[in-house]
Amino acid sequence: MQGFELGRDFLMGTATAALQIEGGDRNNNWYRWCELGKIKDGSHCLRANDHYNRVEEDIALMRAMHNDTYRLGLEWSRIEPAPGQWSREGLDHYRRELELLLDAGITPLVTLHHFSHPLWFEDMGGWENRRSPEIFRRYTRTVVENLGDLIRDWITINEPNVYAMGSFLTGEWPPGKKSIPAYFRVLRNMVLGHILAYREIHAVRSARNFPGPTRVGVANHIRVFDPEDNALARGAARRLDYLFHTIVVRGMAEGKLSFPLGTGGCPLGKGFYMDFFGLNYYSRDIVAFSWKNPGMLFARLKTDPELPKNDLGWDIYPEGLYRICKEYYAKYKVPIYITENGICDADDDQRPRYICDHLEQVARLRREGIPVERYYHWTLMDNFEWTEGESARFGLIHCNFETQERTLRNSARLYGEICKAKAVTPEMAAKYLGA
Ligand code: FCB
Repeated sequence: MQGFELGRDFLMGTATAALQIEGGDRNNNWYRWCELGKIKDGSHCLRANDHYNRVEEDIALMRAMHNDTYRLGLEWSRIEPAPGQWSREGLDHYRRELELLLDAGITPLVTLHHFSHPLWFEDMGGWENRRSPEIFRRYTRTVVENLGDLIRDWITINEPNVYAMGSFLTGEWPPGKKSIPAYFRVLRNMVLGHILAYREIHAVRSARNFPGPTRVGVANHIRVFDPEDNALARGAARRLDYLFHTIVVRGMAEGKLSFPLGTGGCPLGKGFYMDFFGLNYYSRDIVAFSWKNPGMLFARLKTDPELPKNDLGWDIYPEGLYRICKEYYAKYKVPIYITENGICDADDDQRPRYICDHLEQVARLRREGIPVERYYHWTLMDNFEWTEGESARFGLIHCNFETQERTLRNSARLYGEICKAKAVTPEMAAKYLGA
């Protein structure tokens, strides 16, 4: 690899989610899912990385990697343990964490909903309940009123499409429902919840004169769906793209509920509700047509035998990052934050290359004038990876879950050098990639 520049104004860091790292919370939907024995390796989110008690240590690790920014999630159930009841302790904990980050010179980007929420919310149907957008707005308002002086950059909801699919279509995630109508009901409510939260964040921060600018977006999970070379497969790929990406992003950005989320109208008013385009990018799928898969819109997803795979068998396809950024920038013309990008790689023999290859695409986009402004690597350290449990290792830093000892992997050292230089140099490539 020849090396490339990212630019001094490019911000870099890591991303995490509260449930996946904090440990210790019994009042959320994933706690119950773990209790029901739904985690493949039998591990439990109660343990995770014990980050709740190790905030200083983990911020020191971010500093050691020269990170400028950090994407963290708030655990809703710690803030609103019962409907309309606010926990001082929960809010104070996050205030302290945010202050520590700012003191360390690290800009926080805060996620309000990242797959987990309080049990009382789950028990009223969660995002399937018609009142869920309003309940989410109320939670958002309290967070902004109490912590909004410290947070300029917000993600309302992480990967609405992945959440709705895992929790309401395939049933692998809590509450384990398998229903196509429920999938669309949930997406519709998440779209409305996002818009209400978007408005609330701007309104409260501006009314209180909190230091700006305020930026609010969504972490969109976008995949590349490349069809096999026949008309049926092309149709299947188009339908998937529409139902998994387009209707969600359009709803969140424009307030427009396209079929089947609605009939094309904007129930909360026409507007633009996306100050940046948050992109979580991992992989691509080859789409084949299959009569056997009506539930998947007659699509069958395949991997590409030519491409390298991560530990979970996902294709590694850096060019996809480039293609998606081009496509969505052309549509929405707002700055892009790569809010997640990473690899499950326990022995860390692919991660250094993965990082360089994906950042090379970012450098290419920036050279072409596409404003990719930030990159958050998923993830800081090995954590509780939903139903995969502790076995799937996405961390730049290795975690021994028994002792909670954190050890920098080679890729963490490389990432630190890149964050410092805002470039990949030929020396780094030689040292870490052997090329
Ligand atoms: C994303 C999730 C994140 C993590 C990575 C591997 O879909 O947002 O929490 O699970 O995948």
